[in-house]
Amino acid sequence: MKTWNVARIKASKGVCKLPCVTAYDYACARLADAAGIPLLLVGDSLGMAVLGYRSTLPVTMAEMLHHTAAVVRGATEALVVADMPFLSYQISIAEALRNAGRFLQEAGADAVKIEGGTFRADLVKALVQNGIPVLGHIGLTPQSVNVLGGFKVQGKTREAGEQLVEDAQALAAAGAFALVLECVPPDIAACVTAASPIPVIGIGAGPVCDGQVLVMHDLLGLTENKPPKFVKPYAALAETLRAAFSAYASDVQKGVFPGPEHCYPASGATTP
Ligand code: KIV
Repeated sequence: MKTWNVARIKASKGVCKLPCVTAYDYACARLADAAGIPLLLVGDSLGMAVLGYRSTLPVTMAEMLHHTAAVVRGATEALVVADMPFLSYQISIAEALRNAGRFLQEAGADAVKIEGGTFRADLVKALVQNGIPVLGHIGLTPQSVNVLGGFKVQGKTREAGEQLVEDAQALAAAGAFALVLECVPPDIAACVTAASPIPVIGIGAGPVCDGQVLVMHDLLGLTENKPPKFVKPYAALAETLRAAFSAYASDVQKGVFPGPEHCYPASGATTP
């Protein structure tokens, strides 16, 4: 049994803060899991962070299943949540159920995430009633980037803030175990967090939320472009990797690598 399950995540509200991170592969999932991160989200940010797409919209079920299975193999203690990609849950409840079920059945995920508030409550209820735990996602919902007119801060008017509170409560009532709140001003996030009976995991939503989530590539300093304002990079891996690749290329060009210590003797060891 894993240390982190949906019941424990839900019960963390008001008890301890939840540090969460996205993950897309076995190696990084293993390291984040060993560091004690309770929740690994296989975000459809996969499309932008790993696959080089310009938005999350082209990400497919096949890509998400493939990467989710890798993360599951690396996570022995963390809860693994798979992001349902664009159009995998919007068409009908039946199709959403079938696709969500594949993440648990084929990839071994513990839960799925879907974007949207009150208008998704019926879907959340159907998924949960059929044994599929759901993480909600409100505020900036990147799959709606074309409707929102870009990756923009949400909840800036009083009405929009009230709608977010209503959305959080509707998702909780429908059975979501927690929700992501993306890109809203901190005072609005504080109202949503106070009004929500389930943990609110913020990203660009200030410090008051019950937890935080960051895209792993932003956190590690691996992003191609300047990361958003809300990101704190905890490493500068892009520079480290660039330096390692340059040093390797230079060693090969100079004939310095491989050295004698990297070569097999004529007799003796036969395995690497
Ligand atoms: O896809 C993703 O990584 C996400 C997080 C930003 C919450 O949805």
